[in-house]
Amino acid sequence: MQLAIIGTGYVGLVTGTCFAETGNNVICIDIDQKKIDKLIQGKSPIYEPALDVLLERNIKEKRLHFTTDLAAGIKEAKVIFLALPTPPGKDGSADLQYVLDVAKSLSTIITHYTVIVNKSTVPVGTAEKVHAALIQNLDRSLFDVVSNPEFLREGVAVDDFLKPDRVVIGTSSEKARKVMDELYQPYVRQGNPIHFMDERSSEMTKYAANSYLAMRISFMNEMANLCEKTGANVDWVRIGMGGDSRIGKRFLFPGIGYGGSCFPKDVQALAHTALEQDYDFQLVKTVMKVNDLQKLVLGRKVKNYFGSDLSAYTFAIWGLAFKPETDDIRDAPALQLINELLAAGAKLRVFDPEAMNNVKQIVGDKIHYAEDQYDALTGASALIVVTEWSEFRNPDFDRIYTTLKHPAMFDGRNVYSMEKMEELGFYYESIGRKVIHKHVHDTLPAPHNTIVRERGVMD
Ligand SMILES: NC(=O)c1ccc[n+]([C@@H]2O[C@H](COP(=O)([O-])OP(=O)(O)OC[C@H]3O[C@@H](n4cnc5c(N)ncnc54)[C@H](O)[C@@H]3O)[C@@H](O)[C@H]2O)c1
Repeated sequence: MQLAIIGTGYVGLVTGTCFAETGNNVICIDIDQKKIDKLIQGKSPIYEPALDVLLERNIKEKRLHFTTDLAAGIKEAKVIFLALPTPPGKDGSADLQYVLDVAKSLSTIITHYTVIVNKSTVPVGTAEKVHAALIQNLDRSLFDVVSNPEFLREGVAVDDFLKPDRVVIGTSSEKARKVMDELYQPYVRQGNPIHFMDERSSEMTKYAANSYLAMRISFMNEMANLCEKTGANVDWVRIGMGGDSRIGKRFLFPGIGYGGSCFPKDVQALAHTALEQDYDFQLVKTVMKVNDLQKLVLGRKVKNYFGSDLSAYTFAIWGLAFKPETDDIRDAPALQLINELLAAGAKLRVFDPEAMNNVKQIVGDKIHYAEDQYDALTGASALIVVTEWSEFRNPDFDRIYTTLKHPAMFDGRNVYSMEKMEELGFYYESIGRKVIHKHVHDTLPAPHNTIVRERGVMD
């Protein structure tokens, strides 16, 4: 099938490449000339595991093409996907300007029947708005608008796209339904379903899914905070809860708040939709509030220990991306932590396997970008773990211990076992678990308040 993808970012590029992989002829369109130039040379502008191989193969087989020319790109297309940004506006609503502007442009250049598919995450009623933008200049018989929200996860996006748990398609057109069904058949061969529904339900499904997942995270973060106060271990609580098939094991990990390009903006947008409908969606509002507070937890732990004036200290930060296996730093908790520690006077040495360049563009030279994870430790008073990249999971602990000025660790992702930290003699704080400071507290600077020692279950 001839396909055009407008917007060649995380979603557009993965979508285009994975559709090419099953034999479709795909043209990816973007307004960013640099991105398109890079892609024409076969280089991915983003880090996404397994994408490079597929990209190279499909470019070589001439099934995947890139352009900045919208009219040329969509000329032959039977289906056009919109994978455009829908960033939060000032009031928290999803900004539809990119989607509607492109729809308007399409209305003047489409010449044959085309299915226009919204893959961007958009609020209920957007399919109708896109329809209204198209009908201004385009005959009704020449298009159908379909909602097809994307559920891929960055880091495993290719796998998610090729083997989706389910595909959701919102359309009231039988003609468009047949086209979409044909297109997605190669991806549902193992019996995973395609759910056809109306456009509004499809649009709402995406917000419901993301907000529900965000709610699980906020719930577990609050549970972790309560575990810290009561002496329970949130890891055991998580395992005990997750064994219940009604709850399930996934998405129960506490941490330092959800981030990324989706959850924060999508939860906010759902809250805004509720507001517009004069509905007080209390749960969603609380999910956001809990998350805002949770992003402060790790910085507070560091300050509780070293004091509110951190100008005498350097800290090593491992992990900047909002989660492992991506270079995406949009709304990453690391950025907030960096700002907070810098504001308190700290010097920072950071390392991330993939996200350093993106952070450099935002934070600049206010922090030191280390050569590797161990270089980040040089001269540091403590190690702060923010993203649980695999390579941080089993590091050379002796090297960490001897390189740090004080063997102290603040772990925002519960990467390490408390028994191991105790055995090695680290001062160790994590999320929702007791503080470890059995062997080392004499060598550490005196805590600036007593919370840490009062909570010291080891004593
Ligand atoms: N990133 C994810 O994990 C994910 C997952 C599911 C859904 N989504 C949703 O998909 C949409 C896209 O997200 P993303 O992460 O891919 O965004 P992105 O910012 O990575 O990509 C958007 C691309 O659109 C391009 N663009 C902007 N205006 C354009 C125009 N007029 N014509 C052509 N290209 C244009 C940008 O240059 C950019 O390359 C959003 O609505 C997002 O919420 C994202």
